[in-house]
Amino acid sequence: MSWGIKNRLARLIQPDGHCLFLPIDHGYFQGPTTKLEKPGETVKPLLPYCDAIFVTKGVLRSCIDPNNKTPIILRVSGGTSMVGEDLANEGITTSMSEAVRLNASAVGLSIFVGTKYEHQTLLNLTKLVDEAEEYGIPVMAVTAIGREMEKREARYLALCCRIAAELGARIVKTYWCEGFEKVVGGCPVPVVMAGGPKVDTALEVFEFVYDGMQKGAIGINLGRNIWQSDYPVAMIRALRAIVHENANVKEANELFESLKKQEQK
Ligand code: 5RP
Repeated sequence: MSWGIKNRLARLIQPDGHCLFLPIDHGYFQGPTTKLEKPGETVKPLLPYCDAIFVTKGVLRSCIDPNNKTPIILRVSGGTSMVGEDLANEGITTSMSEAVRLNASAVGLSIFVGTKYEHQTLLNLTKLVDEAEEYGIPVMAVTAIGREMEKREARYLALCCRIAAELGARIVKTYWCEGFEKVVGGCPVPVVMAGGPKVDTALEVFEFVYDGMQKGAIGINLGRNIWQSDYPVAMIRALRAIVHENANVKEANELFESLKKQEQK
């Protein structure tokens, strides 16, 4: 691994080997997602508690203060929308020179395994890996499922994660699922968990994040379940306690409940 790759990964993955990434890239295919209408305002109180933000070049340039020191994972795939024909039909949207200009610590791209665009998106990944590694930039592969929520199961996600690692991703982002140890166990590079649509209670989020961490994930890349919460700061701080301070579900929930009161004031 080159010095640049190691150094950039060290910015993202903390000395305890864990990480909390905050994705705010949803607008690249969903438009002004609830509570992310003004990404700069959404993210501001959360920046002190995340290890990186996952963001497109457009939102980065227009909504994030360049004096911000939180590392950037640049979303570099897209070209589709919720109302278009097929969410899987993605291409690479950002050049490597632009990623360097924006001081990205990593670049992230989605793969859509098992879809009509599997081949295309896997070749996007290999091309991106070749280009990014030349500049010492690690690639985070996102195992995307589009609208097909039923794909959140171990056999399928293990397949996607392994393929992403084989094609050169340095980190893989996937969904938590039952039997998550099978997903992590078959993937030779670190795995982070996305959250998916907001669930009903904070407790459910703490439960799956805790379980995933116990089963070998190195951290989370969790968006809607943080910034769509009525108490986003309490939520991210409680999740940080699980990821970085070894808190269990009960401890995280207690912390959440006490921080909620402060956020309410
Ligand atoms: C959107 C993404 C998001 O980064 C990912 O889905 C994580 O966010 P959430 O926890 O809201 O699912 O890749 O395309």
